[in-house]
Amino acid sequence: MTRLLTGARPTGKMHLGHYVGALKNQVALQANYDEVFYIISDIHMLTTKSDKKHIDSIYRNAIDMVIDCIGMGMNPRKTVFYLQSNIPEQNNLFCLIQNLTYVQRIESTPSLREMSKHSGENVTLGLLAYPVLEAADIIGIGADMVPVGKDNIDHVLVTQEIIETFNQKYGTHHKLPAYITSQCNHVIGIDGQNKMSKSLNNAINIRDDKQTVYDKVQKMVWKQRGDGINVVIEYINIFCPKNIEYDSIMDKYNNNENVEKEARQFLYINLEELLEPMRERMKPYIDSPEKIIKLLTNGTQHARDIVKETYHKMRNEMGMIDL
Ligand code: TRP
Repeated sequence: MTRLLTGARPTGKMHLGHYVGALKNQVALQANYDEVFYIISDIHMLTTKSDKKHIDSIYRNAIDMVIDCIGMGMNPRKTVFYLQSNIPEQNNLFCLIQNLTYVQRIESTPSLREMSKHSGENVTLGLLAYPVLEAADIIGIGADMVPVGKDNIDHVLVTQEIIETFNQKYGTHHKLPAYITSQCNHVIGIDGQNKMSKSLNNAINIRDDKQTVYDKVQKMVWKQRGDGINVVIEYINIFCPKNIEYDSIMDKYNNNENVEKEARQFLYINLEELLEPMRERMKPYIDSPEKIIKLLTNGTQHARDIVKETYHKMRNEMGMIDL
């Protein structure tokens, strides 16, 4: 049985940064695996967002994320969507494997530095454990392949190291998960300043309508070549086909000819080409959250069965006592 897994924290509606990071690979690979999983990692969310208002938004955000994932092309009949906090065995597994890595190793993961920025570089115990909890997700489901954004690569490496240590200590042969990431490092926001992010209000959301997309493309930072980041050109490179029109725009841009209007139009048309089918796929679900709730409830039940089995198997392999 081959398994594919990716996921995200339930922080809100999804945008093109999510799509380029991990989702596109998840969608491209879904037909090649026997089972496909998507984890909504609400316990991970608590590591940086634990206020009541954040917790109160989990349910709505989880529903929205599932809809967005379906929009981005995840097959709802094949994908098991599940909510991390509803699988207690996951945490039991986490408890066992946390002893198979070192604080020094975890402290060296670049994502932690990035995530602790919000709290003045203070790191809670939960945040420190973030990569190990992600390892428990991956091990619990028994994923063979994990599509991730660049900032999560190290978490898969930690997972591999933990499995190797487990195999060595307890004489088992658990397989190591592989990861796949996207070519582009990260998608810059339309402000040209920061990574695309919901909280910075610089994102193109999967749910944006035509007019909103048009307005955002018009608002994007335009700079002549050599004057700094030109968001329109960056996005053309990420989202547009490399056809004759592309070549012509790039030639003009590189020769410092005036191509701004043409470039914006080319980008807008191609973004619409990407987003319009997404809107169509989301349509049957947007006003029917009950369908999504059912999907998520059944998915969580199924994922729980798998994680439970893994947990009990690994406990036994370690020789822990069941009274
Ligand atoms: N850490 C991921 C994020 O950036 C979410 C996540 C949690 C995940 N568990 C996972 C991704 C397991 C892939 C596999 O939000």
